Amino acid sequence: MRPHPIWIYARQIARWKTLSGDLTTRALVVDLEDPVLAPLLDLAPTPRDIADERGKLAGPRKYFLRRRALLRKLVSLRLGCSPADVVVTHDADGAPRVVGPDPSIFVSVSARESFAALAISDAPVGVDIEFAGPPTEPLREVLHPVERVEMEKEWRSESRVTRFLETWIAKEAYLKALGTGLKRDPATVAIGFDRFGTFRVADDARPAFRAAGLWDAKIMGEKFVYCACVALDGRPVHGLPE
Ligand SMILES: CC(C)(COP(=O)(O)OP(=O)(O)OC[C@H]1O[C@@H](n2cnc3c(N)ncnc32)[C@H](O)[C@@H]1OP(=O)(O)O)[C@@H](O)C(=O)NCCC(=O)NCCS
Repeated sequence: MRPHPIWIYARQIARWKTLSGDLTTRALVVDLEDPVLAPLLDLAPTPRDIADERGKLAGPRKYFLRRRALLRKLVSLRLGCSPADVVVTHDADGAPRVVGPDPSIFVSVSARESFAALAISDAPVGVDIEFAGPPTEPLREVLHPVERVEMEKEWRSESRVTRFLETWIAKEAYLKALGTGLKRDPATVAIGFDRFGTFRVADDARPAFRAAGLWDAKIMGEKFVYCACVALDGRPVHGLPE
């Protein structure tokens, strides 16, 4: 069965009333400059939000409070509580964690300029977005030996550039789900692509463990945006419902 797409449009989010249901992992990509999102971003930052913005170690900062507001809104839709009651902060490694009112909800965030990918799950989850830019050669040193062999087959074709980008976002999403980010060597993780925009992760550090994720690419405004999402419960990732 084809997984639901990750891509959710802002006008759909604006209509959501709840995020219950049996789909455990939801992911979305938005442009935070989209005026349709404004009502969802109108949330006073908590002291943690302000401290996290000041202490941010890595990644883009400009839209941080808007991303955090939308994240808290999503968690509140899932928990059926007020977004004002949702507290999110960074752990010691920089990963976003829900600390209240229900710390068993997992979240992940990625950002490029005004674009953000957010994921929410009952299991550890990771999400990553990148813009397709001018073609750049694949970085062999971040590839797993198995991936290098696969990539060699495509080395002479243009597809190696996009396959590398797809591989990279899938790796980064998985490493975020682990909570290590790039402190873990990305070359110790191998991505294998299935049909229908899904991929599998094989991790040298956890040989018996198998994770699966979803990736997609779409033109949004003037950008060609790639996104991948992985949840560590092995179940499919779904876009948020209309
Ligand atoms: C996490 C990391 C992969 C982010 O990559 P990136 O391409 O720069 O940025 P992205 O927009 O995709 O992701 C940023 C988000 O990753 C999340 N993040 C940061 N560290 C994380 C970790 N260890 N695990 C999971 N998620 C993490 C944060 O939510 C951050 O967004 P926020 O600050 O708005 O909440 C990368 O920065 C990393 O591995 N850092 C660890 C090493 C480190 O801290 N280096 C310091 C660099 S100054």
